[in-house]
Amino acid sequence: MIKLEDDYDRQERGQCFLWRHKKLLFSLGGLLALVVYGTSCVTGATYDTVVAHGCHKPRCRKIEPIIPAFNKSVDMIFNDVEYKKATIERLSGAIKIPTEIGDVFPEPSEDREYFKYFFEFHDYLEKSYPLVYDQLTVEKVNELGLLYTWKGSNTSLQPILFMAHQDVVPVNRKTLDEWEHPPFSGYYDEETDYIWGRGALDCKNLLTAELEAIEQLLKDGYTPERTTLVSFGFDEESSGTKGARELGKFLDERYGKDSIYTIIDEGGGVTELEENLFLALPVNAEKGYVDVLITIDGRGGHSSKPPDHTTIGVASKLISLIEDHPFEQSFALDNPIFRALTCSAEHSSNIPSSLKRNILGAPHSRKKEHALAEFLASHVAYRDLIRTTGAVDIITGGIKANALPEVTAFLLNHRIEIHSSVNDTLEADLYHAKKIAKKYGYGLSFKGEPVIPETSLGVIEINTRYELEPAPVSPTSGPVWDLFAGTIQNVFENGVFAGNKDADMYIATYLSTGNTDTKYYWNLSKNIYRFIASQFDKETLHVVHSVGERIKADNHLSAIAFVYQYSVNAGNAE
Ligand SMILES: *[C@@H]1O[C@H](CO)[C@@H](O)[C@H](O)[C@H]1NC(C)=O
Ligand SMILES: *[C@@H]1O[C@H](CO)[C@@H](O)[C@H](O)[C@H]1NC(C)=O
Ligand SMILES: *[C@@H]1O[C@H](CO)[C@@H](O)[C@H](O)[C@H]1NC(C)=O
Ligand SMILES: *[C@@H]1O[C@H](CO)[C@@H](O)[C@H](O)[C@H]1NC(C)=O
Ligand SMILES: [Zn+2]
Repeated sequence: MIKLEDDYDRQERGQCFLWRHKKLLFSLGGLLALVVYGTSCVTGATYDTVVAHGCHKPRCRKIEPIIPAFNKSVDMIFNDVEYKKATIERLSGAIKIPTEIGDVFPEPSEDREYFKYFFEFHDYLEKSYPLVYDQLTVEKVNELGLLYTWKGSNTSLQPILFMAHQDVVPVNRKTLDEWEHPPFSGYYDEETDYIWGRGALDCKNLLTAELEAIEQLLKDGYTPERTTLVSFGFDEESSGTKGARELGKFLDERYGKDSIYTIIDEGGGVTELEENLFLALPVNAEKGYVDVLITIDGRGGHSSKPPDHTTIGVASKLISLIEDHPFEQSFALDNPIFRALTCSAEHSSNIPSSLKRNILGAPHSRKKEHALAEFLASHVAYRDLIRTTGAVDIITGGIKANALPEVTAFLLNHRIEIHSSVNDTLEADLYHAKKIAKKYGYGLSFKGEPVIPETSLGVIEINTRYELEPAPVSPTSGPVWDLFAGTIQNVFENGVFAGNKDADMYIATYLSTGNTDTKYYWNLSKNIYRFIASQFDKETLHVVHSVGERIKADNHLSAIAFVYQYSVNAGNAE
């Protein structure tokens, strides 16, 4: 299990003793407890409040905002009407170029016509961000991948890397008339502040935010000490194999293992938990992935003389067995959602008190940790974040009413829990397949190797199509995290919420069940954070990849402000 290394641990160590020994202390009497331990905790509090609230040290502390030393355009980005207008125009122009990507496509070097919109997109970026193209080195990796290098004055400092992707999910042409404003219109509605179109949330917003910020820093005359890199893949919505994978290799060769200070990519945003209570949710871990292809390779024949179970029948037995034995939950405190839960429990008034006690008590009590795990496992919103999932997504078998199906095949898609592995997951599938093979008299093979010899009935074959381990959990303590979190805090506390004295904002973390292009960048840095500094807009949460994708321009401005400020804060940090 991964060791919990964040400030929960550091903070709790001090109060752990008190907590673990509260029964003992109680028997000694509250007064003594306060005399002995009170001063290190909450001076003057009664014993009851100490026990009820630990040492009163908040577990989800507010982070000190870090104001960038160079902040020439910070105000302008938030408040200048002309700047906002020009920014909207540039994002809107980016949306107008339909860089859709399907699941199957040619090599970019072999079919330039297929990728014509991507080339148009490159020209558009060059026109829209002239200083970036003038002063940064722009390289193309595998024809369409873009890598920008803004060389810092001190090359012994590790570079920062901002990521995004150029491609968008295709628009289903059958849904065109459901769009209030066409998906490639980039229409801006002044009244609602929405910019409409495919890519408005995923991911032309982030892509342009990064270039906007750097363009502005260049205009402002800022020179970074740390080199700043920007990389844009072009097939994230497919598999990333031609874009980010090639970019990752390229960066690996140029900079080497653990050579990058931080990597920032698309991911979580800022959510309003209740009125004026906000959580920033950078994603610092991702579940793993494997597609398992299971083929029941049997015998044909006339359907008037069927065996007890056709290959379709055997496949159904196996599917039932798999569905009836879901993976166990394996919640642990290093799961990124625990930080979000802790912040909610500590600062929200809407959490039932028993749940609150279990969340806040989990670091000190196995029983409370267990109760919390049970709660999470029984809620649809959480259970998939703490266990491996399996879903049978594709099945084929049989072609004719009077012919037995020789072959039935299905695809089982797994998303792997962060403490588990591809190996654990496949072992579980194999275990079920072995049972079925034995029970129904079939052989079994795994990746072409026999496990049980083929029989007269046939063989169950198991292969995998795509394997990805869970992503390493990025740290949530230490100087790199502190600078990242402190910058987010500043962007919101002193920027977005500057006019709202009641706004309260905390930095938590979250876990993603999907994978971004960062999956090809793990070797480059331990500090990978998937975060766009925009507020989640409740009305548009469901429109990513779907009809009605749109973003509020103000939410886009904060994303620009973050890249601007983080470039400065991290760009000069040792
Ligand atoms: C800019 O930096 C100065 C000096 O640290 C600070 O006083 C000022 O509040 C900052 N302005 C903004 C908008 O961050
Ligand atoms: C899992 O790992 C073990 C130990 O390395 C190995 O023997 C086994 O074959 C692996 N299982 C699968 C399904 O790959
Ligand atoms: C990371 O490095 C390991 C060991 O050098 C290598 O096997 C692996 O393919 C690399 N991963 C990626 C995503 O490049
Ligand atoms: C460059 O950064 C390194 C590492 O932090 C530091 O030791 C060195 O003094 C810096 N050099 C300059 C010229 O600032
Ligand atoms: Zn995306």
